[in-house]
Amino acid sequence: MTEILSPRGNRSGGIPYQELLDTDSRPVPAVLRLQNPLPAGVQKVDVARYISRDYHELEKEKLWSRVWQMACREEEIPEVGSYTVYDITDKSYLVVRVAPDTIKAFYNACRHRGRQLRERPGRSHDLRCPFHGWCWNLDGSLKEIPCQWDFPGVTAEEYRLPEVRVGRWGGFVFINPDPECEPLESFLGDLPQHFAPWPLEQRYTQAHVAKILRCNWKVAQEAFMEAYHVVATHPQILPSIGDANSQYDVWGNFSRAITPNATPSPHLKWTPTEQEMLDAMLDRNLDEPPPLVVPEGMTARQVLGARGREAMKAILGPAAERLSDAELTDSFYFTLFPNFHPWGAFNRITYRFRPYGDDHRMSIMECWYLAPYPPGARPPAAPIHWLGPDDDWTLAPELGMLARVFNQDVYNLPKVQIGLEAMKKPGYVTFGSYGETKIRHFHQLYDRWLGLA
Ligand code: FES
Ligand SMILES: [Fe+2]
Repeated sequence: MTEILSPRGNRSGGIPYQELLDTDSRPVPAVLRLQNPLPAGVQKVDVARYISRDYHELEKEKLWSRVWQMACREEEIPEVGSYTVYDITDKSYLVVRVAPDTIKAFYNACRHRGRQLRERPGRSHDLRCPFHGWCWNLDGSLKEIPCQWDFPGVTAEEYRLPEVRVGRWGGFVFINPDPECEPLESFLGDLPQHFAPWPLEQRYTQAHVAKILRCNWKVAQEAFMEAYHVVATHPQILPSIGDANSQYDVWGNFSRAITPNATPSPHLKWTPTEQEMLDAMLDRNLDEPPPLVVPEGMTARQVLGARGREAMKAILGPAAERLSDAELTDSFYFTLFPNFHPWGAFNRITYRFRPYGDDHRMSIMECWYLAPYPPGARPPAAPIHWLGPDDDWTLAPELGMLARVFNQDVYNLPKVQIGLEAMKKPGYVTFGSYGETKIRHFHQLYDRWLGLA
């Protein structure tokens, strides 16, 4: 095979994102100007980490028991006494709002004979086990043992509910079962700085959909960490997405991809008009008049920017006037190791991926839509909506037009798992130097956490 080099070396020949920002009708937030590419190099990864039980067990021992992980949104437990359950592999944690601004997390197991204390979210003034009625206060202190006389020596000090560490950022609650872990703040590094223009704590859960998938959790999340798959998986959006012009950067435990929209893909053999770009972006039915028209002399990005500012005025007031076209048009998708994927600006998306129960060949993909709201008028959080492995994403109409795009993404995933199992062994998968930066960064951190590096 002849090596084909791009005119821009190891980058696509399309317009670089930073040059696209120069055409914005507003100054862009400084964070969009930051760049920190991962050192170049194609990376090969052993397929065993997607298919072998040994890796799953190693993840339980070295990763899930030690790493900061997003357990829930704060608004899932809005009142004192609200609690929710966070399950990861064979572990289960109970996250409880103990006081108006205090959240604790406990091992979700009764100290008597071990029954799981709670199976689903709820609200209570204490935590009573349904089996024999042992009961704890919300702060984990022992409240009552029925027939206490039969348990001499069972003391309140010894029989507290054991806690795990809790950290909070952006309206999310994180837990870490390792008592020796670093503080969440240092684990996050500069991530909060990147989100300063778009504070996620000032969002409410407009939709929350969870789907069970027949593939390893890493197979699932890696499908949402690059724009490389767009050309083959979502060809219908090529007129409106700068897939191969995406910018990828890494900092500490997180990475960021920026994929520009309302700009044509360098894969196209033709040049769409500004109107065609806008139509593709808005998923226009070509039998009907366009929902939005690009006036002479304007670009699709500027039209989307103007429409976005108008819509955001109802929420942000005059501050919406300062929002750049980029913030109202492009996709900014971050990954905080190991499995948390908040999006910047106003796409509303946050993903989380994790194993389904203790099964390394099944996973749960969750999508939150975190929408801004007018000050002082926070709507209640939407409850979680579960979809089974054979359910179509369009059964979640709250996701809007993205449901059909998710169908395209997720259609590949069980087939990837089958292919990985079937591959000649020993086998490996191969990640591109730049376009698969985020996945390479993930595996470099994964190697370190699992002691493989
Ligand atoms: S197992 Fe919980 S009270 Fe007995
Ligand atoms: Fe996709």
